[in-house]
Amino acid sequence: MSIASKSYAKINLFLEITGKRPDGYHDLESVFLEIDLADTLEADIRDDGEIRMTCDDASIPVDDTNLVIRAAKLLRAETGSQAGIFFNLHKKIPAGGGLGGGSSNAATALILANQLWRIGLSRNELAKLAEKIGSDVPFFLHGGLCLCEGRGEKVTPLTALNHDIKFGLLMPPWIISTAAAYAKIDVHRTKPIPIRPFLDALMSKDPQQWAALAFNRMEYAASKIEPRYPLLNHLLEREKIPHPRLSGSGSAIWFHGETEQYDWTAITPSFPGLQTCTVSAANNT
Ligand code: C5P
Repeated sequence: MSIASKSYAKINLFLEITGKRPDGYHDLESVFLEIDLADTLEADIRDDGEIRMTCDDASIPVDDTNLVIRAAKLLRAETGSQAGIFFNLHKKIPAGGGLGGGSSNAATALILANQLWRIGLSRNELAKLAEKIGSDVPFFLHGGLCLCEGRGEKVTPLTALNHDIKFGLLMPPWIISTAAAYAKIDVHRTKPIPIRPFLDALMSKDPQQWAALAFNRMEYAASKIEPRYPLLNHLLEREKIPHPRLSGSGSAIWFHGETEQYDWTAITPSFPGLQTCTVSAANNT
């Protein structure tokens, strides 16, 4: 019998880099929020012991480089299981947008395989495994609204935002490599912005307050990598889109509000392929 689960995207409401680590990764202080833009992952047992997947988006590789396959293989290796599984992935989250699609899919694959294979690991045990797949994967085992520290794997759940809170999401027609964006960051160049004032504003639950303090250090890197990004930002400013912020290393941009509140005719013709939508905090808890 097949089982299925939604695999939600995230946006980063705050992202500061606090240092470079001896292992080459960066230490960060970030607030992650799961949003209701989601892929769907179906899973079924395979009797032949193989781990395989298909995807309705032909641009997504379905070989061992896909984090879904890596997650299932890791779970099997760590638990000594011999079982097989087949995944079918329906993509809605654009790749290379800083929305955590691949990481979310990996977390969902761990949850589904753990259930189908009757392994019985707890969410915390799965989150420990998730660290080995990618820095953002442990967050998706917790979901909701979390403070993420270390290289992203130290996850502290925060009190949820109201589910009716709305965000405008812009998905530009370019992708930004996370590794390339981190490589542009020189931690000695700037003093980290403390996260505390943002967290205090966030806990006040007044979006006008916290959205004005939202921050993302990767915006600097993105503008060095993708010349269309500062151009788009300039137009967003001109159209008075409030505090547009990059998610992760980009390319997606979010703002507090709804896309329907604004006139996009002065922006979209300059960026063919730019998609806009309104999303909410995910209501999956
Ligand atoms: O962990 P993940 O594989 O998602 O990271 C992709 C790349 O992003 C890493 O290879 C690294 O270059 C960079 N990265 C980083 N510091 C982090 C997370 C990612 O430097 N905290």
